[in-house]
Amino acid sequence: MTPPPPPNLLHDAFSADFEHELRFTRSVLDSSNPLLEDLLGWDEQGPRPGLIAVVDSGLHDATPGLSKAIEARFADPALPELRETIIVPGGETAKNDSNVVESVLSAIDLNRIDRRSLVAVFGGGAVIDAVGFAASTAHRGVRLVRFASTVLAQLDAAIGVKNGINRFGKKNFVGCFDVPVAVICDEAMLETLSDRDWRSGYSEAVKIACLKDAPFFDLIEKNADRIRERDIDASRPVIHRCAELHLHHITRGGDPFERAEARPLDFGHWAAHRLESITDFETTHGEAVSIGIALDTMYSHLAGRIERSQADRVVEVLRRLGLPVHHSALHGEAILNGIEEFREHLGGRLTITLLDDIGRPVDAHEVDPEVIARAADLLA
Ligand SMILES: NC(=O)c1ccc[n+]([C@@H]2O[C@H](COP(=O)([O-])OP(=O)(O)OC[C@H]3O[C@@H](n4cnc5c(N)ncnc54)[C@H](O)[C@@H]3O)[C@@H](O)[C@H]2O)c1
Ligand SMILES: [Zn+2]
Repeated sequence: MTPPPPPNLLHDAFSADFEHELRFTRSVLDSSNPLLEDLLGWDEQGPRPGLIAVVDSGLHDATPGLSKAIEARFADPALPELRETIIVPGGETAKNDSNVVESVLSAIDLNRIDRRSLVAVFGGGAVIDAVGFAASTAHRGVRLVRFASTVLAQLDAAIGVKNGINRFGKKNFVGCFDVPVAVICDEAMLETLSDRDWRSGYSEAVKIACLKDAPFFDLIEKNADRIRERDIDASRPVIHRCAELHLHHITRGGDPFERAEARPLDFGHWAAHRLESITDFETTHGEAVSIGIALDTMYSHLAGRIERSQADRVVEVLRRLGLPVHHSALHGEAILNGIEEFREHLGGRLTITLLDDIGRPVDAHEVDPEVIARAADLLA
């Protein structure tokens, strides 16, 4: 008797290994600094890989001689060969203007950057997100090395394994997950930041402390005034610890590509992303996150969770860091659309992170607009 044909169904599970290289250094482009050789040195048996450098215009304008320094460093035959340096608009324009992605794709094409070659991006979180998207989609993935040049990029954005651009007035509407070859955080690059961009980064540190590490919150609280005043000895441990917490969330948290329903790192972000759009990106991401954290912390309190004294500590530390905790747009209808946009972005059921206490997050699946309004009133 002939056996029955196999069922028309095949199922295999598979996994792939990733490594995440994060390095803190100072003056990475100095020829005396061995970091680049260590990370990007190539096997001299094969052809020398090519590289294009893409530089954030804000960083470029604030750092005379940067293009020359990139040129000089990659003239070293031990490193990939620099084929072109392009400057792209810094800030959220990088994610709002589709010409930026197009110009990077075009440079990848014209310079024959293949999957063995590299794109090196130097900039803030927005430029890194947009350039990363171009690199991840060209040839279905050209290798990317990120040189993070803002506080927010060094402690959060550049460490993430996602990139993307804004479309239809919505943040990160188009994008993908990808793991960079390396993330390099050069402390010297932070010196040219404006005070506003310096301060903007620390809301993400307060965020992750509230989610994962109460003693880290205490450290930020203790040093908030010195951090605001740009004391690097007080700021460095906060940047490093925050980066480490973000890294471990990705590498050890069990959900690097965010398939699960909960998105804990997006605490405060449903309102933040909406606020950025409503204000036409006049509010920086870090400022919007600060306002979003303050709102969701007060909401948590009004919803019977975190105690008022603890909620006040969160709001106060944001204020002391020089960050805003309120915006008039919190009182309008428009902000509430952020909840639906967030649900769509997650897919499926709405899951918002609230706080039972500092260091004790909790998932919520419903949000009461009246309580949001009361929380906004408390912050006004
Ligand atoms: N992919 C992720 O996981 C992730 C995580 C968090 C945030 N983000 C994104 O990051 C973006 C915010 O990043 P950001 O806070 O770095 O701001 P940003 O990229 O908008 O940069 C802020 C400003 O600083 C300028 N700049 C950059 N480096 C400089 C330097 N060293 N000296 C002087 N000026 C400099 C830029 O030109 C810009 O004008 C948002 O788009 C946000 O959505 C992404
Ligand atoms: Zn963020």
